[in-house]
Amino acid sequence: MAYRLARDQKGPFQGVRLQWSGKEEKPDIVPLRLELVKVVTPPCEPKEKEHPVTTLSSGQGTRDYEETVPFPLEPEGREEVQASRQATPAALRRPACDQPEFLSWRDRLIQGENGRVMTALLPELRGKVDLIYLDPPFNSGYDFLLPPEAEGHNGQAPSGTGARAYRDSWGKDLAPYLAFLYHRLVLMRELLADDGSLYLHVDWHAGHYLKLLLDEIFGRENFRNEIIWKRDIAGKGAKKGSGQWPRNFDTLFFYSKSLCYHFVQPYRPLSEKQKGAYRHREPDGRRFKAVQLGDYSQESVDRLMTAGLIYTSSTGRRYKKYYLDEAQATVDAIWDDIPGFGTRTAAREFLNFPKQKPEALLRRIIEASSREGDLVADFFSGSGTTLVVAGKLGRRWIGVEENPRAVEIARKRLEGTAGQPPFEVWAAPSRQV
Ligand SMILES: C[S@@+](CC[C@H](N)C(=O)[O-])C[C@H]1O[C@@H](n2cnc3c(N)ncnc32)[C@H](O)[C@@H]1O
Repeated sequence: MAYRLARDQKGPFQGVRLQWSGKEEKPDIVPLRLELVKVVTPPCEPKEKEHPVTTLSSGQGTRDYEETVPFPLEPEGREEVQASRQATPAALRRPACDQPEFLSWRDRLIQGENGRVMTALLPELRGKVDLIYLDPPFNSGYDFLLPPEAEGHNGQAPSGTGARAYRDSWGKDLAPYLAFLYHRLVLMRELLADDGSLYLHVDWHAGHYLKLLLDEIFGRENFRNEIIWKRDIAGKGAKKGSGQWPRNFDTLFFYSKSLCYHFVQPYRPLSEKQKGAYRHREPDGRRFKAVQLGDYSQESVDRLMTAGLIYTSSTGRRYKKYYLDEAQATVDAIWDDIPGFGTRTAAREFLNFPKQKPEALLRRIIEASSREGDLVADFFSGSGTTLVVAGKLGRRWIGVEENPRAVEIARKRLEGTAGQPPFEVWAAPSRQV
């Protein structure tokens, strides 16, 4: 086996990490020389969107970013990553909306290999990306093909009839796949703002190995959660006689760059079953549920009593009232309310792009982990789902994708998205998009 677990007893990363031969080797990722191919102005554009200011309580004006090594993969480089990881961002500062950097921003769709593109972007965007979502190849062992008509919605054509969309066969040895993502995750951490967040979308093929790499690069203390996205709500994949439980969910690892990060808890309406628990009624018909009091002080109970928030049962027991018209269900880490395209291929947004993700999934992530005006990046942007949703939500965006056909699909999709401000398409000089 080419990879193994190693234990670091001292140094900034003290814990178990994944090791493989060649991990410490500096990868040969040369920055891609990019040129602006065109500026696309979506036709149904109501007005040039202004990106509103977002502020943090801790400061205003520009922020100072500490210079870290550009490509910190040597052992000593890794130490610097770990050291900067542990630094608390004392005075986070966000560029104010009247600064040229902010005003002149145009969203960018970049065609190119993401390692090379990120290396090229680093001098300009180090520490400036607020949210990264990435949906890389999962090491599934398959190569995915584009249907010939992938540019438009058809909903019917089977995948696999056209040109290769992307390669996802890496051979039996996991090491090349892990090395590929490891080097790119290091670059992404460099691009991420001090209070930024990253969501890595994976599945059972390699997710558990990638969790170790993320712990090493971001720090275990910055692991926020593991989200289970149950993509096949109807239980697809539960083939009779498959001999094991259906593989019907993906995993999203959510990391922040530091302990200071932005998060807005999303809520959803109560299910009918949850509503059923609100079986008591006030004289005016207002429904409430009665919950055991727990550890309240007598003073608190008196206060609740005065406010009319205590329910006393026929046996004299007291409960706290919770009203149905004020109730919301917290969206937790099990996401089973967003169907994937396995079961709804007729969805209008579905372009038949292999492994395309639903807009609702990206909406949830972007709304929870970024503010209007923030910069959202997707370095495996495929058909452009993240970019479309980021644009609709008033976020700035950067999308990187190496397949020119996929870039074309994303470009057309963005062009047809109402409210998307003009955006730029970039590629290596020889490439026409
Ligand atoms: C799973 S798909 C992304 C699908 C996307 N989330 C969507 O909703 O359409 C992965 C994409 O990553 C792209 N990709 C793979 N390796 C890449 C690399 N090194 N640089 C840039 N793009 C890459 C593939 O071409 C493919 O389009």
